[in-house]
Amino acid sequence: MVPELQKTTVRIQQPERVMGVIRAMKEQGCSKLQVISDFDMTLSRFGCNGRRCPTSHNILDNSHVISEDGKKKLKDLLHHYYPIEIDPNRTLEEKCPLMVEWWTRAHELLLQQKIQKGDIAQIVRESDVMLRDGFNELFDQLHKYNIPMFIFSAGVGDVLEEIIRQANVFYPNVNVVSNYMDFDDSGVLKRFKSPLIHTYNKNNSVLQGTAYFQQLSTRTSIILLGDSMGDLTMADGVPSVENILKIGFLNDKHQEMRGCGYGTFTLSCSQFSALLSSLQVEEQRGRYLDAYDIVLESDETLDVVNGILRYIL
Ligand code: TMP
Ligand code: MG
Repeated sequence: MVPELQKTTVRIQQPERVMGVIRAMKEQGCSKLQVISDFDMTLSRFGCNGRRCPTSHNILDNSHVISEDGKKKLKDLLHHYYPIEIDPNRTLEEKCPLMVEWWTRAHELLLQQKIQKGDIAQIVRESDVMLRDGFNELFDQLHKYNIPMFIFSAGVGDVLEEIIRQANVFYPNVNVVSNYMDFDDSGVLKRFKSPLIHTYNKNNSVLQGTAYFQQLSTRTSIILLGDSMGDLTMADGVPSVENILKIGFLNDKHQEMRGCGYGTFTLSCSQFSALLSSLQVEEQRGRYLDAYDIVLESDETLDVVNGILRYIL
């Protein structure tokens, strides 16, 4: 049915359920389908040749428009909060206020840097960001069949839009909800628009007032793509779900433990090995398998999603 599911990177806990959902999606057809996806480390790559790729925030952090002092402060925030974000031993109740704190403090630091709207395109062009292999096919197919794609991101909307624009795939069927910058009349960043979206509030609570999912209420087949446990709630606002397939990228936690931070933002080995022993990597895998229908482990491609779409469309 879908040869890509035989890849060695694919882990599935309930193969029969997965096959059933894919078959049902094919029967329902493309007029019932919509895709909901995270951006950072889901549509964008996690690593390339052993180096970490940047998130949309890190693209700004690493850029020439941030002072050395600003870079150090942003890096300190990452060192402090990122281990909390991915710590499997903390509850959501514990993590949420700390994520709000991280995003708020990071955005305040970015505001001090007088970033110009006109700089964003060059910052993206000069960055190490990469979309996952196969992104062209994914975006092109969804566009061709007029299937709505909703990108729900806790990253920086202006940056991620520029990434997909430069990749020539920002088609009209793509909608983005993310943290957007607000510039003053002279084009200087003055604030971030609300609501603030962080890793763990990607749900209906930040979508109220956007009639997006209501308009698509007949699209009851959903493919959800994510890489974090926070991405699992992204489809909660869909009024009626008949078939949902959750595909999760389990990015290489061992690579993180070896101390490869985001781009030049390296986290030390000891910080990570303290946090994630090999045993915890196993535990993490178990959690992902329970939560996601298909888990893609250390897979930098969109092959599986593309294979499923080739079968359905
Ligand atoms: P998302 O992929 O779930 O949309 O989350 C965005 C990622 O951005 C999340 O893993 C944390 C990361 N991040 C940074 O790298 N730097 C920052 O300053 C902030 C606030 C978040
Ligand atoms: Mg992500």
